[in-house]
Amino acid sequence: MSSSYPKVLVCGGAGYIGSHVVKSLGERGADVLVYDNLSTGHRDMITHGELVVGELADTDLLRKTVINFRPDIVIHFAASIQVGESMQKPFNYYYNNVINTLGLLKVISEEGPGALIFSSTAAVYGNPDKIPAHEDTTLAPINPYGTSKLISETIMAELAALNKLDYIALRYFNVAGADPENRIGQKYKAATHLITRALKTAKGEFSTLKIFGTDYETPDGTCIRDYIHVTDLAEAHVLAMNNLLKSKKNAIYNVGYGRGSSVWEVINIAREVTGVDFSVEKAPRREGDPPKLIAGAEKIRKELDWIPKHDSLKFILETAWRWEKSLDVS
Ligand code: UFG
Repeated sequence: MSSSYPKVLVCGGAGYIGSHVVKSLGERGADVLVYDNLSTGHRDMITHGELVVGELADTDLLRKTVINFRPDIVIHFAASIQVGESMQKPFNYYYNNVINTLGLLKVISEEGPGALIFSSTAAVYGNPDKIPAHEDTTLAPINPYGTSKLISETIMAELAALNKLDYIALRYFNVAGADPENRIGQKYKAATHLITRALKTAKGEFSTLKIFGTDYETPDGTCIRDYIHVTDLAEAHVLAMNNLLKSKKNAIYNVGYGRGSSVWEVINIAREVTGVDFSVEKAPRREGDPPKLIAGAEKIRKELDWIPKHDSLKFILETAWRWEKSLDVS
């Protein structure tokens, strides 16, 4: 551990992905400060550093926090993240993801550090014209969630061109799994994501798992996604952060394994890992879902030396299941 390790402000660091990144940073001796409104995050998921409880929209508090802590870099996770919900509540996504990000960008470009790692998403590609989708694939979101992240990325690219920001945007594919040491994981009772939902069904929290669409043009008729272990994603953030601080080179990277699994494949492995033959039910397609999303992620491997350690759907489900079982059902 080095005392010269960067000071990192992590907005949304009490949430699922943020807390895994905080753990990776903390284990390397980083000086971390978490800024989170605890709306979906949890105080006990923060393994390192102090917490400031605040809204991202509260730019006065954000500004004070930046002035007091003087971070070298900010990592920004604080956002709404559900594709389905974004179709029902688009304004929440525009306000929370675009307007609040803009407020944060203004604060950090005025007060420093002017360096940001941004959580973006494969949803910016919409229904990609090419699979795997590489970073230069046409950007054409098909839901407000993807649109909100693309607008944020566009603003960041322009600010960078105006020398007001250094940034790396990481476009995540489908993040799942839990800390292999089982210290942290996803803690969200109303979780809507497939893997968490499947495991909660196996655990008895839901009576059945709905399969949203079985008539897609895919081999088994269900949607295909590139599921990536959250710890590998956390490592990608550490590498991106170190690279940005060292080289000031703005960049956008996909983060996925480049391998697709269907909803049925996830269900079968979830049944195997849990030993529970939980009930599933065919349901209509969910609005805003692209049939197939797989990452073309050679760029991050090549430029940042990102070497994933947990590229196995079974391992993702095993770690998620161990975590899920350790949570209180009540
Ligand atoms: N699904 C079901 N039943 C469920 C939940 C999901 O069939 O109960 C299906 C969905 O319809 C979809 C697939 O499982 O086909 C994956 O859905 P998730 O909700 O787990 O994840 P999404 O693909 O919708 O979105 C996730 C993240 C986004 C990110 C995207 C990138 O939430 O932030 O992956 O691939 F942009």
